[in-house]
Amino acid sequence: MTEFERRAAEAAEATERMLEALLADDALAGEVMRPPLLISAMRYVALGGGKRFRPFLVIETARLFGVSGDGPVRAGAALELVHCYSLVHDDLPAMDDDDMRRGRPTLHTVHDDAMAVLAGDALLTLAFDVAAATATAASAARRIDLVRTLARGAGVGGMVGGQLLDLAAEGRYPPDPAHPSGEAGVIRIQSMKTGALIKAACRMGAALGGASRRERQALDGYADALGLAFQIKDDLLDAEGDAAVLGKAAGKDSAAGKATFISLHGADGARRRLAEVAQAGDAALLPFGDRAAILRELMAFNSRRIS
Ligand code: IPE
Ligand code: IPE
Ligand code: MG
Ligand code: MG
Ligand code: MG
Repeated sequence: MTEFERRAAEAAEATERMLEALLADDALAGEVMRPPLLISAMRYVALGGGKRFRPFLVIETARLFGVSGDGPVRAGAALELVHCYSLVHDDLPAMDDDDMRRGRPTLHTVHDDAMAVLAGDALLTLAFDVAAATATAASAARRIDLVRTLARGAGVGGMVGGQLLDLAAEGRYPPDPAHPSGEAGVIRIQSMKTGALIKAACRMGAALGGASRRERQALDGYADALGLAFQIKDDLLDAEGDAAVLGKAAGKDSAAGKATFISLHGADGARRRLAEVAQAGDAALLPFGDRAAILRELMAFNSRRIS
């Protein structure tokens, strides 16, 4: 096992344990009670699956600044809760209408749409509870930075806004006349629907570490590239991957007429762009030197992942 693999496995395990603790049956102070049906739906969605790519990114970015332990694991778990909610809603019949996720039947097929809406809502709100806790960061200023970063990445100008643009690009809503055409338009959508939470991961690591402005700028450059590379890879896997390995349906993007690098440039063109973007991401990490070796490997890992 390489150092990268060891750290990735350790981050995934720590995230799983943290999510289990956060999704316990017992009510917290200020909560009345946790309806067993809802908390078990949340556990179904959040536990025992997923690469935990975003928590790993939070943990490794915080480590650049010498911050480790429970704080980054909690911040990573908060971001993963938002990510899990986004998947539950993304799979709903009203959106992508998918039956499989992380190798299991989607929540709305096991229960119903209302349960998926509510479990998603509750995962999203729990995320902010976790980010705001003193156990996540002792400094109040850093906690506010975390909460705001998560909100901006998740909301109207981030992931949710990107999901709207994604559906609009399928022809579900009238196009925004200001939306750029061609590759710039695809990059805009991807930088929001996928890139925003990936950027939030790096920014949460930077918030935990009290990074300087210049360090944050360098990390933003890396995160922009990583987010784009991540969605190009997701689109390539949709076009060429095996649903059994992916744990979710494949071949849906072209059927839905989604705007992707593949619809623009074909699979080989998308692969070329993926390599270029990965190189730009590496270059952005130069100011951190060897300290960023794991973040560099994370970029390379994305290019070779099969799910
Ligand atoms: C899938 O994200 C949805 C996208 C934003 C492309 P991941 O590929 O990180 O999914 P999990 O968490 O590993 O299931
Ligand atoms: C999803 O993009 C981005 C989210 C915010 C969930 P996709 O719709 O391509 O994700 P998958 O392929 O269903 O995982
Ligand atoms: Mg979608
Ligand atoms: Mg989808
Ligand atoms: Mg996809």
